[in-house]
Amino acid sequence: MTAKIISGTETAKAIREELKVEVAELKEKHNVVPGLVTILVGEDPASQSYVSAKNKTAHALGIHSEQVTLDADTSEKDLLAMIDKYNKDDKINGILVQLPLPKHIDEGKVLYAIDPGKDVDGFHPVNVGKMVLGEQCFLPCTPHGVLELLIRAGVETSGAEVVVVGRSNIVGKPMVNLMLQKREAGNSTVTICHTRTKDMTAHTKRADIIIAAAGVPKMITADMVKDGVVVIDVGVNRIGMSESGKAILAGDVDFDSVKDKAAAITPVPGGVGPMTITMLMKNTVQAAKQAAGLI
Ligand code: GUN
Repeated sequence: MTAKIISGTETAKAIREELKVEVAELKEKHNVVPGLVTILVGEDPASQSYVSAKNKTAHALGIHSEQVTLDADTSEKDLLAMIDKYNKDDKINGILVQLPLPKHIDEGKVLYAIDPGKDVDGFHPVNVGKMVLGEQCFLPCTPHGVLELLIRAGVETSGAEVVVVGRSNIVGKPMVNLMLQKREAGNSTVTICHTRTKDMTAHTKRADIIIAAAGVPKMITADMVKDGVVVIDVGVNRIGMSESGKAILAGDVDFDSVKDKAAAITPVPGGVGPMTITMLMKNTVQAAKQAAGLI
């Protein structure tokens, strides 16, 4: 079997076209321009590249975007003061603080400080709680992107055995919660595997859908999956540098071997990555509509 490639690049492009139209209509009919601020503390190259891609995409869709870069030794107090400033800024509907933060800053405190109505990452406990309860909220961008990929690729999730590998707050935990909701791209029977799982293969081998988000390059190999599995690879691991200085990326899935057994698979790059950024834009538009009383 050779897998169908689920292209995040193509799916993201289609959603961005829809968003572009929506942003233009918001401006024309309601004089509303969605606004996003990204805050990066420090100079981690991967974070720098993610943040600049987010701002570039926002700009391309007609979303007002501001990019703040703070020194790695910025105090927690100063970061909290900056968040407070943007919480009160009417031009800004979405606030994104890029993670991870330097060790001297308490991540929980920072995420709590963001107004839940501007929490376009969906990381504030209010939004996390609403997500678990199945209420309307901002869904975290990467799991939200995975749902959209599954929907638009026509993958049947109802009753499916879904195995999520990885238990991070950003991907694994919300992913599990979303897949079991009574909604489109939900109703699955879900298992979560992590570093303490005794026999990972016993779980992955019976999965109809595997969502790999462990941050370990090529850890899901062909012998760990069954024929006809659908594989969503969330991993973006920098495994080297090309001669031209570009990062060489690998997913959490050994794409070359798994593609011969899978029914469908996402590539890295060009899979979940572009979807994450696109769902951030969708959340920012949602935040602007909420602030304007349109939803
Ligand atoms: N770091 C890695 N992924 C994310 C994300 O989705 N949002 C933020 N804020 N930081 C991240």
